[in-house]
Amino acid sequence: MDEFGIVILAAGQGTRMKLDVPKPLAPIAGRTLIDFSVKAANVFLNNSKRSGRISLVLGHGKEKIEQHMKEQLSDCSWESAHQKEQRGTADALRAYFNDISEAKNRKYTIVMCADTPLITAAEIEALTSELESENLDGVAATFHEENPRGYGRIIRSTTGFKIVEEKDATTEEKKITEVNSGLYILRTEFVLNHLFKLESKNQAREFYLTDLFQADRKVKAVFFSDKYPFLGVNDLTQLQASNRLLQNRIIAKASERGVRFLAPESVLIDDQVEIDSGSIIYPNCVLEGKTKIGKNVLIESGAVIKNSEIADDAKILAYCYLEGAIVKSSASVGPFARLREGTVIGEKSKIGNFVETKKAILEDEVKVSHLSYVGDAEIGARTNIGCGFITCNYDGANKHKTIIGEDSFIGSDSQMIAPISIGKGCYVASGSTINQDMADGDFAIARTKQVTKSGMAKRFIKSSKTHD
Ligand code: UD1
Ligand code: MG
Repeated sequence: MDEFGIVILAAGQGTRMKLDVPKPLAPIAGRTLIDFSVKAANVFLNNSKRSGRISLVLGHGKEKIEQHMKEQLSDCSWESAHQKEQRGTADALRAYFNDISEAKNRKYTIVMCADTPLITAAEIEALTSELESENLDGVAATFHEENPRGYGRIIRSTTGFKIVEEKDATTEEKKITEVNSGLYILRTEFVLNHLFKLESKNQAREFYLTDLFQADRKVKAVFFSDKYPFLGVNDLTQLQASNRLLQNRIIAKASERGVRFLAPESVLIDDQVEIDSGSIIYPNCVLEGKTKIGKNVLIESGAVIKNSEIADDAKILAYCYLEGAIVKSSASVGPFARLREGTVIGEKSKIGNFVETKKAILEDEVKVSHLSYVGDAEIGARTNIGCGFITCNYDGANKHKTIIGEDSFIGSDSQMIAPISIGKGCYVASGSTINQDMADGDFAIARTKQVTKSGMAKRFIKSSKTHD
């Protein structure tokens, strides 16, 4: 039997968020709010080497949240309970005990909210050891909030404490700045003795979990001097504030590993992004999704990099947009380049300004230096692609492939009408439209012959100046 039941209350709708997804799925740092509570619970179980189960109490958007968990958090095991009507946090915990039969046999019940994305395993650990060392029935984490509006207030007395919700607080109680975080560790036996007897005699007509804490019980309010891990998200302003704090945390961790940020406050980095030591990130960069940046990579201003891998010593110059791309070591991309899904840029290859690639595999030391579109293509090592090159890959219905062998030279302003295959060591003259395959070592020129008529320009130039 598991020792801990970790319950994440996530049935509320979160109307104050004004989003079209249930609050637990509100986006933050490339994840969603609920991911961070689940992650903290998981790390707590792994670090403490104690057995436990993560349970979600779901209501609003139940299916969507379950779907999200299956897709995005597939490496963590969880179960869910259903709270049909949102009648308060105690009612949510009742749903957990009603739906999950083993729940009653777990020694401890940890209650977390789905809307505190800054929470970590450290707070759960600290609170658990407080409960165990003092042999208590329940502990609640509290903190000091200058502007306590919306939080339950901690009313301490000589015999203990109780929690009064904002709606029920007197003017004097409202002035109290020690507030309830919503994180509790409880002895399951204690919960079961009281939970189903709680009443909803309050302004909200809700069943408050906070009513478990009464002065004459073996419970304690544990004050944490750092309030940040407990900050709740109830509206978009708070979501933005928590996101910024998460960004600071992500950047601080990367800096510890030896990543240098020239303007850390201006960059956005998702939680899953990995950056290795020696890399330098210029201002206003956005790194999203499962992006991996190797060692000593240079990322200049304004780069947006999504779900991409950039290997050691590569350079992503200013204002590049990468999505689902792989850039191998010592390659250089940009400025102003767009690498789309399925692009692979080989070692020491160079992509210059105003180049777009899609499903393009470039081997090592390939150069596409200026103004080109390379789509559905394979380009062999050391091949040079001149300025203004286009793969004509789409015939209006289907996409076709362009294959160019190694050590070839493709002159500027050339087009490849795909499907087409160009061999190794080929030479295509500038301004050619190529629609026939070329064998290794072939030369091709495909443009109309130039016609020059002496002195005839004046027939076309409308200005009075002539150059006879
Ligand atoms: C709650 C606490 C308050 C504390 C604050 C900290 C109660 C009565 N109040 O208030 O003392 O200071 O958190 O952020 O517990 N939920 C359900 N079912 C429900 C109601 C809520 O699952 O019927 C879930 C929500 O989805 C959310 C969590 O419980 O994840 C907290 O609910 P919320 O409405 O945000 O409570 P607060 O008003 O913030
Ligand atoms: Mg809340």
